[in-house]
Amino acid sequence: MKPINDTFLRALRREKTEYTPVWLMRQAGRYLPEYRKVRERMGSFMALARNPEAACEVTLQPVERFGLDAAILFSDILTVPDAMGLGLSFVAGEGPVFARPVQSEEAVRSLYVPDPNTELRYVMDAVREIRRALADRVPLIGFSGSPFTLACYMIEGGSSKDFYATKRMMYERPDLLHRILDVNARAVTDYLNAQIEAGVQAVQIFDTWGGALAHGKYQEFSLKYVSQIVSGLKKTSDGESVPVIVFTKGGGIWIEDIARCGADCIGLDWTVSLGTARQSVADRVSLQGNMDPMALFAGEAAIRAEARRVIDDFGAVGSGGHVFNLGHGIAQKTEPEMVAALVDEVHAYSRIKH
Ligand code: CP3
Repeated sequence: MKPINDTFLRALRREKTEYTPVWLMRQAGRYLPEYRKVRERMGSFMALARNPEAACEVTLQPVERFGLDAAILFSDILTVPDAMGLGLSFVAGEGPVFARPVQSEEAVRSLYVPDPNTELRYVMDAVREIRRALADRVPLIGFSGSPFTLACYMIEGGSSKDFYATKRMMYERPDLLHRILDVNARAVTDYLNAQIEAGVQAVQIFDTWGGALAHGKYQEFSLKYVSQIVSGLKKTSDGESVPVIVFTKGGGIWIEDIARCGADCIGLDWTVSLGTARQSVADRVSLQGNMDPMALFAGEAAIRAEARRVIDDFGAVGSGGHVFNLGHGIAQKTEPEMVAALVDEVHAYSRIKH
């Protein structure tokens, strides 16, 4: 069934829309008091993510509070390596930690592609639960990490600033990194296809750390595997096409390459001009982005001005092809009232322009 509000899907397909649709990366999360309540009740992030009813509840919170044009499945990119047996936990103040990081040739060789309908069944159950609760009001976005971004966490064993172990493996034993990336690409393809079968109506691949790679290495170790995934994805569900968004933080310099990976839309961070990007690739793909999430700390007038600047920068308002978003996830200390002002401005200003 087509969602009642399908503005987001039409913008992704570069069709005309009445206004610019908006959703925000990490729209469900700790900046929302109603999220913190559920998170506390569940005891841990993973307990919340593994419980379909609770995951559904927090998925809907920002959609209902702000009137966003899409919902995004509440889960995490690290559920896939967790399902490979790496043992994920979130340690307060430290972020994600893997009990069994991939740091030896033996560990690389024993990696396997998890069955998304058994090891990750809780994610598919959450998707079905959310679709029921949304009742076709807005589309549901599914997601996964890119093979390279997942590999960074799997090899480092958690967050990292310099990706020492990952890059050392890349330069010293590229064959081992390629082996990890190949398993990850197959795992992500199966995982996203299972999400599509369970009911997600668009998917986003988060390549959060692709931008940390050198020119050439990005193409070889990240984009190649993203392309492999995109070509393996189911193109339609329930008679509707399922658009694919590829977000590479720091990937603005490679957008012409990214535009050739088969994705329908490129997610951009704030370092790029949407107008310039549109001139170079927007006859092939739609664009998503790209307000600096830190602008949400500048007060309402500045937020509204910045939202208008982003919409004007894209230009060609009315011809479709722009999904408004932040250039990265919403920061934890953001005030919900500021997000409300942002969503209101995007809707009101773009409606006048369309
Ligand atoms: O966008 C959404 O609202 C959907 C949910 C979502 C989460 N993580 C929930 C979450 C999505 C799409 C993600 C993606 C994700 N997770 C990425 C890619 C996007 C990006 O931000 O670059 C990455 C790199 C991760 C890995 C991850 N998960 C980190 C580094 C952390 C932070 C740990 C910390 O304590 O600061 C997480 C945990 C996480 N994932 C939280 C949420 C709401 C916060 C943990 C909590 O509530 O306890």
